[in-house]
Amino acid sequence: MAAIKNVAVVGATGKIGGPIVARLLESKLFNVTVLTRDRGRQRRFPPGVAVKEVDYDSVESLEAALRGQDALVSAVAFEAIDAQKNLVDAAVQAGVRRMIPSEYGNDTLNPKLAAFPIYQPKIAIRERCERKVAENPSFSWTTIQNASFLGPDWTLDFIVDVKQRRADIKDGGDVLFCATTYDDIAQAVIGTLTHLDETANRPVRISSVNTTQNELIAIAKELGATDGWDITHSKTEDLEVEALRRWAEGDHSDEVIAMFINRAFIGDGWGGYFPVRDNDLLGIKGLDREGLKAIIKLAIDR
Ligand SMILES: NC(=O)c1ccc[n+]([C@@H]2O[C@H](COP(=O)([O-])OP(=O)(O)OC[C@H]3O[C@@H](n4cnc5c(N)ncnc54)[C@H](OP(=O)(O)O)[C@@H]3O)[C@@H](O)[C@H]2O)c1
Repeated sequence: MAAIKNVAVVGATGKIGGPIVARLLESKLFNVTVLTRDRGRQRRFPPGVAVKEVDYDSVESLEAALRGQDALVSAVAFEAIDAQKNLVDAAVQAGVRRMIPSEYGNDTLNPKLAAFPIYQPKIAIRERCERKVAENPSFSWTTIQNASFLGPDWTLDFIVDVKQRRADIKDGGDVLFCATTYDDIAQAVIGTLTHLDETANRPVRISSVNTTQNELIAIAKELGATDGWDITHSKTEDLEVEALRRWAEGDHSDEVIAMFINRAFIGDGWGGYFPVRDNDLLGIKGLDREGLKAIIKLAIDR
Protein backbone atom coordinates (compact mmCIF):
# COMPACT_ATOMS: atom_id res chain seq x y z
CA MET A 1 0.00 0.00 0.00
CA ALA A 2 1.31 3.47 -0.86
CA ALA A 3 2.41 5.56 2.12
CA ILE A 4 -0.12 7.75 3.91
CA LYS A 5 0.60 11.46 3.60
CA ASN A 6 -2.62 13.39 4.24
CA VAL A 7 -4.37 12.63 7.52
CA ALA A 8 -7.69 14.04 8.72
CA VAL A 9 -8.58 13.91 12.40
CA VAL A 10 -12.07 14.27 13.88
CA GLY A 11 -12.57 14.79 17.61
CA ALA A 12 -9.20 16.51 17.63
CA THR A 13 -10.32 18.86 20.38
CA GLY A 14 -10.89 15.96 22.77
CA LYS A 15 -8.95 14.11 25.46
CA ILE A 16 -7.30 11.62 23.13
CA GLY A 17 -7.71 13.61 19.91
CA GLY A 18 -5.36 16.36 21.15
CA PRO A 19 -2.41 14.04 21.86
CA ILE A 20 -3.00 12.26 18.54
CA VAL A 21 -2.77 15.53 16.59
CA ALA A 22 0.33 16.55 18.55
CA ARG A 23 2.09 13.27 17.78
CA LEU A 24 1.09 13.30 14.10
CA LEU A 25 2.66 16.76 13.77
CA GLU A 26 5.74 15.84 15.78
CA SER A 27 6.41 12.87 13.49
CA LYS A 28 6.72 15.28 10.51
CA LEU A 29 5.43 12.44 8.33
CA PHE A 30 1.97 13.80 7.61
CA ASN A 31 -0.07 16.81 6.51
CA VAL A 32 -2.72 17.14 9.22
CA THR A 33 -6.26 18.44 8.73
CA VAL A 34 -8.69 18.73 11.61
CA LEU A 35 -12.42 18.41 11.00
CA THR A 36 -14.51 20.04 13.69
CA ARG A 37 -18.08 21.07 14.37
CA ASP A 38 -16.82 24.54 15.29
CA ARG A 39 -14.15 26.34 13.32
CA GLY A 40 -13.75 28.79 16.23
CA ARG A 41 -11.63 26.08 17.82
CA GLN A 42 -8.94 26.76 15.17
CA ARG A 43 -7.12 28.83 17.78
CA ARG A 44 -6.35 25.67 19.72
CA PHE A 45 -4.23 24.13 16.98
CA PRO A 46 -0.63 24.88 16.11
CA PRO A 47 0.16 26.62 12.84
CA GLY A 48 0.31 24.24 9.93
CA VAL A 49 -2.84 22.33 10.86
CA ALA A 50 -5.62 22.90 8.37
CA VAL A 51 -9.03 23.21 10.03
CA LYS A 52 -12.33 22.50 8.30
CA GLU A 53 -15.77 22.92 9.78
CA VAL A 54 -18.09 19.98 9.10
CA ASP A 55 -21.65 18.94 9.77
CA TYR A 56 -21.66 15.36 11.07
CA ASP A 57 -25.26 15.00 9.83
CA SER A 58 -24.26 15.64 6.21
CA VAL A 59 -22.38 13.02 4.23
CA GLU A 60 -21.82 15.64 1.51
CA SER A 61 -20.17 18.06 3.95
CA LEU A 62 -17.95 15.29 5.30
CA GLU A 63 -17.09 13.94 1.86
CA ALA A 64 -16.07 17.40 0.64
CA ALA A 65 -13.83 17.84 3.69
CA LEU A 66 -12.26 14.40 3.22
CA ARG A 67 -11.41 14.72 -0.49
CA GLY A 68 -7.65 14.30 -0.92
CA GLN A 69 -7.18 12.67 2.49
CA ASP A 70 -5.42 9.31 2.66
CA ALA A 71 -6.45 8.49 6.21
CA LEU A 72 -9.13 9.47 8.70
CA VAL A 73 -8.46 9.18 12.42
CA SER A 74 -11.59 9.49 14.52
CA ALA A 75 -11.42 10.36 18.19
CA VAL A 76 -15.01 11.51 18.58
CA ALA A 77 -16.61 11.40 22.00
CA PHE A 78 -18.38 8.34 23.40
CA GLU A 79 -21.71 10.20 22.98
CA ALA A 80 -20.99 10.76 19.28
CA ILE A 81 -19.98 7.26 18.18
CA ASP A 82 -23.15 6.92 16.06
CA ALA A 83 -22.21 10.06 14.13
CA GLN A 84 -19.41 8.05 12.60
CA LYS A 85 -21.90 6.24 10.30
CA ASN A 86 -21.82 9.24 8.00
CA LEU A 87 -18.07 9.56 8.46
CA VAL A 88 -17.51 5.97 7.29
CA ASP A 89 -19.73 6.50 4.24
CA ALA A 90 -18.08 9.84 3.43
CA ALA A 91 -14.59 8.41 3.86
CA VAL A 92 -15.30 5.63 1.38
CA GLN A 93 -16.85 8.05 -1.12
CA ALA A 94 -13.92 10.45 -0.77
CA GLY A 95 -11.36 7.70 -1.44
CA VAL A 96 -9.86 7.56 2.07
CA ARG A 97 -7.71 4.42 2.29
CA ARG A 98 -7.53 3.85 6.07
CA MET A 99 -9.97 4.81 8.78
CA ILE A 100 -9.30 4.47 12.48
CA PRO A 101 -12.76 4.64 14.10
CA SER A 102 -13.08 5.96 17.64
CA GLU A 103 -12.66 2.97 19.98
CA TYR A 104 -9.58 3.39 22.24
CA GLY A 105 -10.86 1.03 24.90
CA ASN A 106 -11.73 -2.58 25.54
CA ASP A 107 -11.60 -5.38 23.08
CA THR A 108 -14.99 -5.00 21.41
CA LEU A 109 -14.39 -8.26 19.56
CA ASN A 110 -14.65 -10.06 22.88
CA PRO A 111 -18.01 -11.88 22.46
CA LYS A 112 -18.96 -11.20 26.09
CA LEU A 113 -19.21 -7.48 25.33
CA ALA A 114 -21.76 -8.11 22.59
CA ALA A 115 -24.46 -8.23 25.30
CA PHE A 116 -23.52 -4.81 26.69
CA PRO A 117 -25.61 -1.96 25.26
CA ILE A 118 -22.87 0.63 25.74
CA TYR A 119 -20.58 -1.16 23.28
CA GLN A 120 -23.22 -1.59 20.54
CA PRO A 121 -22.50 1.72 18.76
CA LYS A 122 -18.76 0.93 18.48
CA ILE A 123 -19.46 -2.63 17.31
CA ALA A 124 -21.95 -1.30 14.72
CA ILE A 125 -19.36 1.14 13.33
CA ARG A 126 -16.73 -1.59 13.03
CA GLU A 127 -19.25 -3.81 11.23
CA ARG A 128 -20.11 -0.94 8.89
CA CYS A 129 -16.39 -0.62 8.10
CA GLU A 130 -16.21 -4.37 7.42
CA ARG A 131 -19.12 -4.14 4.96
CA LYS A 132 -17.50 -1.17 3.20
CA VAL A 133 -14.23 -3.08 2.80
CA ALA A 134 -16.13 -5.95 1.18
CA GLU A 135 -17.62 -3.48 -1.34
CA ASN A 136 -14.51 -1.28 -1.73
CA PRO A 137 -11.24 -3.13 -1.22
CA SER A 138 -9.29 0.13 -1.48
CA PHE A 139 -10.86 1.18 1.85
CA SER A 140 -9.55 -0.34 5.08
CA TRP A 141 -9.87 0.14 8.84
CA THR A 142 -7.98 -0.44 12.06
CA THR A 143 -9.32 -0.08 15.60
CA ILE A 144 -7.00 0.71 18.49
CA GLN A 145 -7.71 -1.26 21.65
CA ASN A 146 -5.82 0.20 24.59
CA ALA A 147 -8.13 -0.89 27.43
CA SER A 148 -8.04 1.80 30.12
CA PHE A 149 -6.57 5.28 29.55
CA LEU A 150 -3.67 5.71 31.98
CA GLY A 151 -3.20 9.16 33.43
CA PRO A 152 -3.95 11.35 36.40
CA ASP A 153 -7.41 11.98 34.93
CA TRP A 154 -8.25 8.36 34.15
CA THR A 155 -7.57 4.98 35.83
CA LEU A 156 -5.87 6.80 38.69
CA ASP A 157 -9.14 8.41 39.65
CA PHE A 158 -11.75 6.08 38.19
CA ILE A 159 -10.20 2.69 39.00
CA VAL A 160 -8.10 3.70 42.00
CA ASP A 161 -8.34 7.31 43.11
CA VAL A 162 -4.78 7.73 44.35
CA LYS A 163 -5.25 11.40 45.23
CA GLN A 164 -8.41 11.00 47.31
CA ARG A 165 -7.17 7.58 48.57
CA ARG A 166 -10.39 5.89 47.55
CA ALA A 167 -11.07 2.66 45.68
CA ASP A 168 -13.86 0.23 45.15
CA ILE A 169 -11.94 -3.04 44.84
CA LYS A 170 -13.45 -5.31 42.24
CA ASP A 171 -13.25 -9.11 42.40
CA GLY A 172 -10.53 -9.02 45.07
CA GLY A 173 -8.29 -6.48 43.30
CA ASP A 174 -5.82 -8.90 41.71
CA VAL A 175 -7.37 -9.09 38.23
CA LEU A 176 -4.86 -7.95 35.60
CA PHE A 177 -5.97 -5.21 33.25
CA CYS A 178 -4.18 -3.18 30.57
CA ALA A 179 -3.78 0.59 30.80
CA THR A 180 -2.25 2.90 28.20
CA THR A 181 -0.97 6.48 28.28
CA TYR A 182 -2.25 9.06 25.80
CA ASP A 183 1.27 9.17 24.38
CA ASP A 184 1.32 5.44 23.64
CA ILE A 185 -2.18 5.57 22.12
CA ALA A 186 -0.99 8.39 19.84
CA GLN A 187 2.07 6.30 18.95
CA ALA A 188 -0.29 3.44 18.00
CA VAL A 189 -1.92 5.79 15.48
CA ILE A 190 1.47 6.59 13.94
CA GLY A 191 2.43 2.89 14.01
CA THR A 192 -0.81 1.96 12.27
CA LEU A 193 -0.44 4.60 9.56
CA THR A 194 3.13 3.47 8.87
CA HIS A 195 2.34 -0.29 8.93
CA LEU A 196 -0.70 -0.35 6.69
CA ASP A 197 -0.52 -3.94 5.52
CA GLU A 198 0.10 -5.46 8.95
CA THR A 199 -2.75 -3.50 10.55
CA ALA A 200 -5.38 -3.68 7.79
CA ASN A 201 -8.93 -4.54 8.81
CA ARG A 202 -8.23 -5.65 12.33
CA PRO A 203 -7.97 -4.33 15.86
CA VAL A 204 -4.51 -3.60 17.22
CA ARG A 205 -4.15 -4.31 20.93
CA ILE A 206 -1.72 -2.26 23.00
CA SER A 207 -0.85 -1.35 26.56
CA SER A 208 1.69 0.75 28.45
CA VAL A 209 1.32 -1.43 31.54
CA ASN A 210 -0.53 -4.46 32.76
CA THR A 211 -1.50 -3.88 36.36
CA THR A 212 -4.07 -4.54 39.08
CA GLN A 213 -6.00 -2.39 41.52
CA ASN A 214 -3.99 -3.84 44.41
CA GLU A 215 -0.70 -2.97 42.67
CA LEU A 216 -1.81 0.63 42.08
CA ILE A 217 -2.68 1.00 45.77
CA ALA A 218 0.62 -0.61 46.83
CA ILE A 219 2.60 1.84 44.67
CA ALA A 220 0.61 4.81 45.98
CA LYS A 221 1.44 3.66 49.51
CA GLU A 222 5.15 3.35 48.59
CA LEU A 223 4.92 6.97 47.44
CA GLY A 224 3.68 8.08 50.84
CA ALA A 225 -0.10 7.77 50.50
CA THR A 226 -0.11 5.36 53.41
CA ASP A 227 -3.09 6.23 55.60
CA GLY A 228 -6.72 7.13 55.39
CA TRP A 229 -7.78 4.92 52.51
CA ASP A 230 -11.51 4.53 51.94
CA ILE A 231 -11.77 1.01 50.53
CA THR A 232 -14.98 -0.77 49.54
CA HIS A 233 -15.42 -4.09 47.73
CA SER A 234 -17.72 -5.28 44.99
CA LYS A 235 -18.07 -8.09 42.48
CA THR A 236 -18.18 -7.15 38.80
CA GLU A 237 -20.68 -9.98 38.28
CA ASP A 238 -23.13 -8.14 40.57
CA LEU A 239 -22.41 -4.85 38.77
CA GLU A 240 -23.25 -6.49 35.45
CA VAL A 241 -26.60 -7.83 36.69
CA GLU A 242 -27.57 -4.48 38.17
CA ALA A 243 -26.41 -2.51 35.13
CA LEU A 244 -28.37 -4.71 32.70
CA ARG A 245 -31.50 -4.45 34.87
CA ARG A 246 -31.31 -0.68 35.27
CA TRP A 247 -30.47 -0.12 31.59
CA ALA A 248 -33.53 -2.18 30.58
CA GLU A 249 -35.62 0.04 32.87
CA GLY A 250 -34.35 3.11 30.99
CA ASP A 251 -31.61 4.20 33.38
CA HIS A 252 -28.72 5.20 31.10
CA SER A 253 -27.00 7.32 33.72
CA ASP A 254 -23.24 7.69 34.12
CA GLU A 255 -23.49 5.46 37.19
CA VAL A 256 -24.91 2.59 35.14
CA ILE A 257 -22.40 3.18 32.33
CA ALA A 258 -19.61 3.02 34.94
CA MET A 259 -20.93 -0.37 36.13
CA PHE A 260 -20.69 -1.76 32.59
CA ILE A 261 -17.23 -0.24 32.14
CA ASN A 262 -15.99 -1.72 35.40
CA ARG A 263 -17.23 -5.18 34.44
CA ALA A 264 -15.58 -4.83 31.04
CA PHE A 265 -12.27 -3.33 32.29
CA ILE A 266 -11.64 -5.39 35.40
CA GLY A 267 -13.86 -8.45 35.06
CA ASP A 268 -11.61 -11.44 34.41
CA GLY A 269 -11.87 -12.47 30.73
CA TRP A 270 -14.07 -9.53 29.72
CA GLY A 271 -11.73 -7.77 27.34
CA GLY A 272 -9.72 -5.41 29.56
CA TYR A 273 -6.56 -7.50 29.44
CA PHE A 274 -4.81 -8.48 26.22
CA PRO A 275 -2.45 -11.45 26.52
CA VAL A 276 -1.12 -10.71 23.01
CA ARG A 277 -0.28 -7.13 22.11
CA ASP A 278 0.94 -5.23 19.02
CA ASN A 279 3.29 -2.97 20.98
CA ASP A 280 6.45 -4.03 19.10
CA LEU A 281 4.90 -3.66 15.66
CA LEU A 282 3.61 -0.16 16.49
CA GLY A 283 6.74 1.12 18.24
CA ILE A 284 5.25 1.25 21.73
CA LYS A 285 7.85 0.88 24.45
CA GLY A 286 5.45 0.89 27.38
CA LEU A 287 6.37 1.60 31.00
CA ASP A 288 8.30 -0.33 33.62
CA ARG A 289 7.28 -0.18 37.29
CA GLU A 290 9.30 3.03 37.78
CA GLY A 291 7.46 4.63 34.88
CA LEU A 292 4.12 3.61 36.35
CA LYS A 293 5.25 4.96 39.70
CA ALA A 294 6.08 8.33 38.12
CA ILE A 295 2.57 8.60 36.66
CA ILE A 296 1.01 7.65 39.99
CA LYS A 297 3.13 10.34 41.67
CA LEU A 298 1.83 12.91 39.18
CA ALA A 299 -1.71 11.82 39.96
CA ILE A 300 -1.15 12.09 43.71
CA ASP A 301 0.42 15.54 43.38
CA ARG A 302 -2.08 17.00 40.90
N1 LIG B 1 -10.33 3.54 27.44
C1 LIG B 1 -10.68 4.54 28.20
O1 LIG B 1 -10.35 4.58 29.38
C2 LIG B 1 -11.44 5.68 27.60
C3 LIG B 1 -11.75 6.78 28.39
C4 LIG B 1 -12.45 7.84 27.82
C5 LIG B 1 -12.83 7.78 26.47
N2 LIG B 1 -12.51 6.65 25.75
C6 LIG B 1 -12.90 6.56 24.32
O2 LIG B 1 -12.06 7.43 23.57
C7 LIG B 1 -12.78 8.01 22.48
C8 LIG B 1 -12.66 9.52 22.52
O3 LIG B 1 -13.15 9.95 23.77
P1 LIG B 1 -12.68 11.32 24.45
O4 LIG B 1 -13.05 11.20 25.89
O5 LIG B 1 -11.27 11.62 24.04
O6 LIG B 1 -13.67 12.32 23.74
P2 LIG B 1 -14.08 13.80 24.23
O7 LIG B 1 -12.87 14.47 24.77
O8 LIG B 1 -15.27 13.69 25.12
O9 LIG B 1 -14.60 14.45 22.86
C9 LIG B 1 -13.88 14.33 21.65
C10 LIG B 1 -14.46 15.21 20.56
O10 LIG B 1 -15.60 14.62 19.95
C11 LIG B 1 -16.21 15.64 19.16
N3 LIG B 1 -17.69 15.49 19.11
C12 LIG B 1 -18.38 15.25 18.01
N4 LIG B 1 -19.68 15.15 18.26
C13 LIG B 1 -19.83 15.31 19.57
C14 LIG B 1 -20.97 15.30 20.43
N5 LIG B 1 -22.19 15.08 19.98
N6 LIG B 1 -20.75 15.48 21.75
C15 LIG B 1 -19.51 15.70 22.22
N7 LIG B 1 -18.38 15.71 21.43
C16 LIG B 1 -18.56 15.51 20.12
C17 LIG B 1 -15.78 16.98 19.75
O11 LIG B 1 -14.93 17.59 18.79
P3 LIG B 1 -15.41 18.86 17.94
O12 LIG B 1 -16.12 19.76 18.88
O13 LIG B 1 -14.09 19.43 17.46
O14 LIG B 1 -16.25 18.37 16.84
C18 LIG B 1 -14.98 16.56 20.99
O15 LIG B 1 -13.92 17.42 21.29
C19 LIG B 1 -14.20 7.47 22.60
O16 LIG B 1 -14.34 6.37 21.76
C20 LIG B 1 -14.31 7.04 24.05
O17 LIG B 1 -15.25 6.00 24.27
C21 LIG B 1 -11.83 5.63 26.28
